[in-house]
Amino acid sequence: MEKIQTQFEKDVTKGLTDYPKHLPSKYIYDQRGDKLFQDIMAMPEYYLTNCEFDILSLHKTEICKAFSHDKGFDLIELGAGDGKKTKILLKELVDKNYDFDYLPIDISQNVLDELTEALKLEIPEAKVQAKQGTYFDVLSELDEYRSRKKVILFLGSNIGNLLHKDAIVFLKKIQENMHDEDVLFMGFDQKKHPQTILNAYNDDTKITEQFNKNILRRINREFEADFDLDQFMHWETYNPETGTALSYLVSLKEQYVNINNLDLQIKFDAWESIHVEISQKYDDAVVEWLAAQSGLKPVKSFLDQKGYYKNYIFKAAKS
Ligand code: AVI
Repeated sequence: MEKIQTQFEKDVTKGLTDYPKHLPSKYIYDQRGDKLFQDIMAMPEYYLTNCEFDILSLHKTEICKAFSHDKGFDLIELGAGDGKKTKILLKELVDKNYDFDYLPIDISQNVLDELTEALKLEIPEAKVQAKQGTYFDVLSELDEYRSRKKVILFLGSNIGNLLHKDAIVFLKKIQENMHDEDVLFMGFDQKKHPQTILNAYNDDTKITEQFNKNILRRINREFEADFDLDQFMHWETYNPETGTALSYLVSLKEQYVNINNLDLQIKFDAWESIHVEISQKYDDAVVEWLAAQSGLKPVKSFLDQKGYYKNYIFKAAKS
C-alpha cells in the first residue's frame, strides 16, 4: 500500500526534484531554527527588530488607542515569536486598563510555551490564550472570536517571506474574517540602501548561514539524509528594482545526496543552487497595491526614526 506523505515530505520531494531547486523557508524553524532566528534578531546588522521596537515604543499610546473598543477586544498575533516587541503594547494596554485578551499564534509550540511562561512573570495581568498552528489553519478559526473586535497583529515583516501572489491570498483570507470595526496591524520592511539589506542577511558571524542551512540539517535528521553542510554555502542577493532579497544554498561541488526515508537520491552540479527564502522589501505604492488587491485599506502608518521600516493599520475596504 502506498504511504501517505506529509506536507514536509511532499515539499522536499518536489523542491529538490524541480529545476531550479527550492525549499520553503518555513521548514527552517524547528527548535534549533527558532533559536537561530532569535540570535538573528539580536544581531546589530538585522535592523528590522530594532526599527519595529522603536516604532512601537514611540507610538504605543496612539497605536493602543486605535486598537481599543468600548466592549473590549481580542488581540490576535500571527507568528508571535518571542513577543519581545508585542510586550511593549501589552504593557501599555495593561497599564491603561484596556479590556483585552491576547491570543498569540505560532507554528512552534516551543516558542508559545516560552512566551506564555515569560508573560506570566513579566505581565501577569495579561490574559493569554496561546494557539499552535499554521497561519492559514488558525485564520479559519478566527470566526470563533467574532463576538468582539479583532485586532490582528502580523509583525516582523513576516509578510516578506511570501511572494506577492501568496501575500495577496494570505491578506484576503484575513480580510474575509474582518468586520467593520476590526483592524490589522502589520510591519513592512522598507526599500533602503541595498548594502544595508544585504548586510542584514549576510552577517560575518555566519548566523544567517547556519539558520538557512538548518533546513538541510533538519532533512538529515527527519528523513535520514546525508547532506554535508560544509559542501554548501549561503548566498544572498538583493534586487533594488523589485525590492526582493533572496537566500540560496549553493553546492560547492558536484555531489549526490541520499534522502533515505524518501527513497531519493539528488544530484547537485557544482554551483547549483537551492532557493530557500524570499525577504521582500516594500514602499508605500507596493503596500497600497497589495492592500487594494486584498480588499484592505491602509488607514494609518508609523515610521521608525531611521526611516527603514513601517507599521500600517489596515481596515477592510468594505467598511
Ligand atoms: C521571519 N522573517 C521576516 C525573516 C526575514 O527577515 O525574512 C527571516 C530571516 N531570514 C534570514 N534572516 C531573517
